[in-house]
Amino acid sequence: MMANSTLCLNDVLSPEEAGSNKFSRRKKEANPELLRKLYNGIKYLYTFDNVECLKIEEYIDTVIINGDKGQLKPHTIDRGLRRNKYFFGERYTYGCGLGSEKLYPEGFVEPIPRWMEHLIIKPLEKARVLEQDFVNSAVINIYLPGGCIVSHIDPPQIFDRPIVTVSFFCDTLLCFGCKFSFKPIRTSTPIASVPLVRGSATSISGYAADNITHCIRPQDITSRRAAIILRRVLPSAPRLDHIELYCYTDTDFFSRLASGRKRRYTKEETEILYEIKHFSKRARYDGKIRHHVI
Ligand code: OGA
Ligand code: MN
Repeated sequence: MMANSTLCLNDVLSPEEAGSNKFSRRKKEANPELLRKLYNGIKYLYTFDNVECLKIEEYIDTVIINGDKGQLKPHTIDRGLRRNKYFFGERYTYGCGLGSEKLYPEGFVEPIPRWMEHLIIKPLEKARVLEQDFVNSAVINIYLPGGCIVSHIDPPQIFDRPIVTVSFFCDTLLCFGCKFSFKPIRTSTPIASVPLVRGSATSISGYAADNITHCIRPQDITSRRAAIILRRVLPSAPRLDHIELYCYTDTDFFSRLASGRKRRYTKEETEILYEIKHFSKRARYDGKIRHHVI
């Protein structure tokens, strides 16, 4: 069953809701023309049956176990509080705002697993849901109860459209146009939400992918869930070089750099400090490490 069956495809802000909270400016967005454009960009494509789901879910659990045993390349995994991400084929940085995201250098994460090719991608290609050889990036998101993914747009300079999501273990909702606030975490009423049912493949493109944010709200994850996000990374997508990656991932190095404390740097760090001169402004440390935005 849906995690929250009161929210459905036509869920929009009522005038009372819109006028009574701090997210009231969202009211003007929930118009029929916007909803038409939004729903035009959302497609239910395919459903894996229960037996197929069980098999795929077993493989997903194997990925988690292998990750816990340290058998995956370290950058494959991004561990969060109640949501872990496993990157296959490609990984990207979350950047400091839409447009600043970049791919990791090639080869830093595991390739797309064979089971995923055989059990998910090939059947979707055969059903003409996915173009042949379209997918070169697959991410497994594992959510624990209360886990979420804050409102975002999948970076258009990195990912082609459509973006296909396949859900496992349980159903949830994909919400559009939600505003998040934190401590404690709260979300505004979405402009719209669509069910993501276990075994279903859903695609977003056009307006739904490019002009409105999407999210998974914490209240819609009541039991462990997995999503496999199938995407095509564009050949033109910006990519970090090795030094940029080092700076992006080594927060300790950055803390020392930012604190301005006189200390000895290792030979490698000295070289990096030299290279930093050639960085783009955005890659430069600006006082805050902001890499776990999504
Ligand atoms: C994402 C995303 C949705 C989901 O990873 O970019 O939107 O269902 N995930 O996990
Ligand atoms: Mn997304």
